[in-house]
Amino acid sequence: MEWKAQWIRPSFDLGDIAPLFSKSFTAKGRVKEAKLYITALGIYEAELNGKRVGDYVLAPGWTTYNKRLQYQVYDVTEQLKEDNCLLVTVGKGWYRSRLVGWETSEIQQELRKNPAGLLAQLEIGYEDGTSETLITDETWSFGESHVRFSEIYDGETYDASLTVITGEGNQVQSFDGPSHTLILQQGEEILEKERVHGASLFHTPKGEVVIDFGQEVTGYIELEVDAKAGEEVELSHAEVLDKEGNFYTENYRSAKAKYRYICKEGKQTYKPKQTFFGFRYIRIDQFPGGVEAAKLENFTAVVVYSDIKRTGYLSCSNPKLNQLFDNIIWGQKGNFLDIPTDCPQRDERLGWTGDAQVFVKAAALNYDVEKFFTKWLADLAADQGEDGRVGHVIPDVLAGESSAAWADASTICPWEIYLAYGNPQILASQFDSMKKWVGYITAHTKDTHLWTGGQHFGDWLGLDAPSGSYKGSSREDFIASAFYAYSTSLVVKAGKVLEEDVSEYEALYDSIVAAFRKAYPEYYTQTECVLAAHFKLAPDCQAAADQLASMVKECGVQLKTGFVGTPYLLHVLSDYGYGDLAYSLLLRESYPSWLYPITKGATTIWEHWDGIMENGDFWSADMNSYNHYAYGAVADWVYGVAGGIKAMEEFPGYERVVVAPKPDERLDWLKVSLETRHGLIRSEWKKVAGAWRYEIETPVAAYVTIAGKSYEISRGIHTFFSNI
Ligand code: BGC
Repeated sequence: MEWKAQWIRPSFDLGDIAPLFSKSFTAKGRVKEAKLYITALGIYEAELNGKRVGDYVLAPGWTTYNKRLQYQVYDVTEQLKEDNCLLVTVGKGWYRSRLVGWETSEIQQELRKNPAGLLAQLEIGYEDGTSETLITDETWSFGESHVRFSEIYDGETYDASLTVITGEGNQVQSFDGPSHTLILQQGEEILEKERVHGASLFHTPKGEVVIDFGQEVTGYIELEVDAKAGEEVELSHAEVLDKEGNFYTENYRSAKAKYRYICKEGKQTYKPKQTFFGFRYIRIDQFPGGVEAAKLENFTAVVVYSDIKRTGYLSCSNPKLNQLFDNIIWGQKGNFLDIPTDCPQRDERLGWTGDAQVFVKAAALNYDVEKFFTKWLADLAADQGEDGRVGHVIPDVLAGESSAAWADASTICPWEIYLAYGNPQILASQFDSMKKWVGYITAHTKDTHLWTGGQHFGDWLGLDAPSGSYKGSSREDFIASAFYAYSTSLVVKAGKVLEEDVSEYEALYDSIVAAFRKAYPEYYTQTECVLAAHFKLAPDCQAAADQLASMVKECGVQLKTGFVGTPYLLHVLSDYGYGDLAYSLLLRESYPSWLYPITKGATTIWEHWDGIMENGDFWSADMNSYNHYAYGAVADWVYGVAGGIKAMEEFPGYERVVVAPKPDERLDWLKVSLETRHGLIRSEWKKVAGAWRYEIETPVAAYVTIAGKSYEISRGIHTFFSNI
């Protein structure tokens, strides 16, 4: 398809009101096939002859708009009639909404100045062999739509009582919009994936009328109401109630997250489709007949996320662990909305690179995220500076410096996606970006072969942080140098897969390791021990792991690690003979632990281990999300160590597999399964008559280790036993 359409926009400013573009046309004959190609500077929703076009919500999705703007293609053959009316509403979306509660990059500020632009082309093929192309141009009209306001953080106001004039509206203006940046939809579509009904409706001590959906979700409320024209429904969203049981929104910071609907006459339904919210509770602020008239059945939560397919399942005999597994899945669903976001509710919802690299491995086990990450990594490469700089968030609306362990998403994510799905294409597409990232460090360090200097997030949220700081006390140069080594090692591995000459990077890697050992002969924190052992930087990794185990035990079997150390903590313990201790951390229920939030009713993963403290107080409203997937990374330990299913670098994509389950007496049974590109891999163990019974199903040859003994098995279902 060749674009012939012109970008159109309203010929005068409508302010916050989303324009409604319209075009009426008559088909010239019997339609054989019709396709609509469409995109917008904002979020579009198209309607052909009264019916929504496609199921894609929040289209065209979020990309590095100044370099890559996706368009979508819809088959509208069935929707076309003789006389047709095509209507398109264009809201602000990520393109033109305020993004982040603080200052954004210049590019972002420029993008926001753009008009509500629309580009559409309808290709019609007739049964008589002729064809026709209908394009956006100055023959289109525009008017005000029902959407009076819509922004990503602040919500939507929709006035259904208004009579919207279509067809005879105002003439649009064509303009010189983006053309060389247009790309065909690359990621997964964003869809309405699930519906959750309210679990209870109640009054808070303050007298607020609140509905609890029983689950924190990302999406919006579908309203069903019988009302008089002009009556209003207003809703607020929240993740938690405070310790008195009142509705709590302070942790949304400046995000208003408001839902306002002005009714038309009679029975009606409405859902805002140009914004989204992260919430478990809603407060009814206004309702026809008064808030007391609101009923549970008036509201349904519609859950929205990228159309990723579930591949991994975890379950075991401990109900709290099962809740954790469930929360990890909900954390992923709530934050895989076109890009991997840190959280879905406050004035951020950004593609934080650190969070993405921490979670990518677990993400690729839980769901098939190859396409999802392929798109996001292409944005990462597009946003990368000439000098190799990688922003804190992708799309890079912040334009800050590069931080170690955040910008390393540029090497870690492609490598994990390759291991999970076995397709070297992701490495081929990202290889330049991976090398550029390592080159950036080499050029910006103060000390050769280390990464010293720079501005980093450190071991973000580490519990050994000095008072008043978000950064754990692990040395920033230590972390930065460790990730410099790790990223370089991944460039070497990727280069070998691609049959590139990587001798330069091999030599660099050796030099980094040597410099690291010299600069950091001692480790002072749990995270430092974790990195030294996990990245094989310590001259004696066993000693680093021994030190880690002592540190964990000395403080009463507690983790002190933050974003950087936590994902590898249990791996290091179990890799070096402390499997029991790893399980102790996983099964611990008091703060700090993965299960502590479960004891406080969590239905997603929290940003802080003590988002709600023992006494019911909150962490400061400043940085307190209840849907932050990063610590859900622990799932990869459950798949890979407890269940024992591991990808092999020599056979990526589970073409062959290692299965080495590690049961623990504190659990009676555990089941792990993974739908791979080669079929289902399943590993289960349970206590049977005083022994462990294992059942392993594999679609490919597998190398199994049970209680220290190794076996090579072929495809099929195999059972093993070992002593408890
Ligand atoms: C985000 C994090 C992110 C961090 C960077 C926060 O505001 O929510 O998850 O990684 O900033 O330190």
